[in-house]
Amino acid sequence: MDAIAGESYEIATMYPEFLSTANTADIPLALTTLNYAFRTEQRHKALYEKALAALQANQVNTLSSDYYVCPTCGNTYDATPPKRCRVSMTSSDRMQKISAV
Ligand SMILES: [Fe+2]
Repeated sequence: MDAIAGESYEIATMYPEFLSTANTADIPLALTTLNYAFRTEQRHKALYEKALAALQANQVNTLSSDYYVCPTCGNTYDATPPKRCRVSMTSSDRMQKISAV
């Protein structure tokens, strides 16, 4: 629950403020990077919520044992990723596969 709360804060408060500051300062690279992080944190929150729901329902075995992380933006997929990352358009060939032990 703490992880979900942390992601919620980042999505609702932290990244919107960072994006506003970068926009005001007119720093396009910062805007791109922060937008990647903002969108990726939304995905992370959803994955945490999914894991918590599975845990509470005693259905952890329904969760994926393989995750794919985009090296560009950190977006995470709990199934085979699309050909290009939905956030950064990075090729799925570059995704790092993380498997449960
Ligand atoms: Fe990405």
